[in-house]
Amino acid sequence: MSDDLTHRHAAVALEPDVFRAIGHRLVDDLADLVARVPDRPLTRDEPPGVIREALGLTGPLPEQGTDPAALLAAITPRLFAHSLFNAHPRFFGYITASPTPIGVFGDFLAAALNANVGSWTLSPAATEVEAQTVRWLAEFIGYPGECGGLLVSGGNMANIVGFLAARAAGTPWDVRSTGIGAGGGRHLLAYASAETHTWVQKAADIAGLGTQAIRWIPTGRDQRMDTTALVGAIEADRAAGHVPLIVIGTAGSVSTGVVDPLRAIATICADRRIWFHVDGAYGGFAAAVADPDDDLRALARADSVAVDPHKWLYAPLEAGCALVRDPEALRRAFSYHPPYYHFDEHVTNYVDYGPQNSRGFRALKVWLAMRQAGAAGYRQAIRDDIALSKAMATAVSGEAELELVTQHLSIATFRFVPADLRASAGEPAVASYLNDLNRRLLDRIQRSGELFVSNAVVDGRYVLRACIVNFHTSLADVRAVPAAAVALGRALDREHRATLAG
Ligand SMILES: Cc1ncc(COP(=O)(O)O)c(C=O)c1O
Repeated sequence: MSDDLTHRHAAVALEPDVFRAIGHRLVDDLADLVARVPDRPLTRDEPPGVIREALGLTGPLPEQGTDPAALLAAITPRLFAHSLFNAHPRFFGYITASPTPIGVFGDFLAAALNANVGSWTLSPAATEVEAQTVRWLAEFIGYPGECGGLLVSGGNMANIVGFLAARAAGTPWDVRSTGIGAGGGRHLLAYASAETHTWVQKAADIAGLGTQAIRWIPTGRDQRMDTTALVGAIEADRAAGHVPLIVIGTAGSVSTGVVDPLRAIATICADRRIWFHVDGAYGGFAAAVADPDDDLRALARADSVAVDPHKWLYAPLEAGCALVRDPEALRRAFSYHPPYYHFDEHVTNYVDYGPQNSRGFRALKVWLAMRQAGAAGYRQAIRDDIALSKAMATAVSGEAELELVTQHLSIATFRFVPADLRASAGEPAVASYLNDLNRRLLDRIQRSGELFVSNAVVDGRYVLRACIVNFHTSLADVRAVPAAAVALGRALDREHRATLAG
């Protein structure tokens, strides 16, 4: 026990003046470091041991504490020196956005408030901000604003929330209390295309259905779900006495950004009374700029939609959002009322709407950026990312040694094909060589620190994949990609052939 609990001094406390001084210094350091990101290597090719050493991560927990000002002043530049920067204008990997500066402030402010957004009583302002954020997110993509929904950690959780809502709504017995095995041999089944993100396996697993309950519906050559095959699978399962629970359509696939035939899927689900869920984690926000007859717009007909502000709204990680047409569907999937929580029933208690109990104020960073940019500002940013991706595709097409494979939304895929292999690229031995070459090329590009792309496999072809959810990127950045890929690709091809020959 401390000697003096009248004037307690906790080891983690900071006097207001010290807090102010450290905070000012941190903001100054961040302003400098962030401004230099475009001129620094995007990432360094360092092994884990070097990073541990540089950041002092090898020793045991020190018995004695340390001066917080000195600690932050030392660790901040080191974190910057050894991190990968998705705020770099040439970061095109996966679907990881550059963070909004106002969102950075939002997380800082939210941490200071430390609202527990599980119950309204504990977070009156934060709960109301979250409710408006959910409404705005829905309205931005054309989904009914009076839907239910809540902020979660990201796309996986947003989709899983939708999946669990479907399970509670569509199981013909009380699945929450008796479990999925209580159906007398009837299986609960989910329908998704092979292009669906791996969240669907996690959802089927977590929901107790098991991954074998996923009916993998084939796609056409355009990577979109084959709806004739979908209907066939549903009818066969119903005929066998099983329960088709949920059909998942993807609005912007993780590999190529392709959008499933959402309009047709919506009709199939409505006719058969099956829950229609749209994974719009990546492409959902593009519905805000889509033509009226675009399939993206049909996400408005879904029973639930997952969107991911930490993707195309550039929120700092983490921020996903589950939207559910019927708000009561979330309560039916998640709510319990234990005696130790005495919450007012007439206000929103988010603990009743999702899997989390204590919840942080994730909505603030999203809400602030929506206020800063407005709907028009966000529509423009999304349009610009799409236009830049198309410009990259055009630049790729202009390089004789690059093959453009796909371009959808803000994702372009392409591969390096040496000039003398172009004509024979379909032969098995050449196809295998090209896959290997492009796998190595990806590795070299990622290690270069100049730009960052990730990969996809399209029709058996291993391809490089550039996704632009980056408001720092401009035309010069996208035009730099093809030239860099060709230069590195040529060098690798030479080395590779020399090794094979030797
Ligand atoms: C289509 C799609 N769904 C779900 C996810 C998972 O999102 P998160 O990584 O935020 O959990 C991703 C991630 O890229 C995605 O592209």
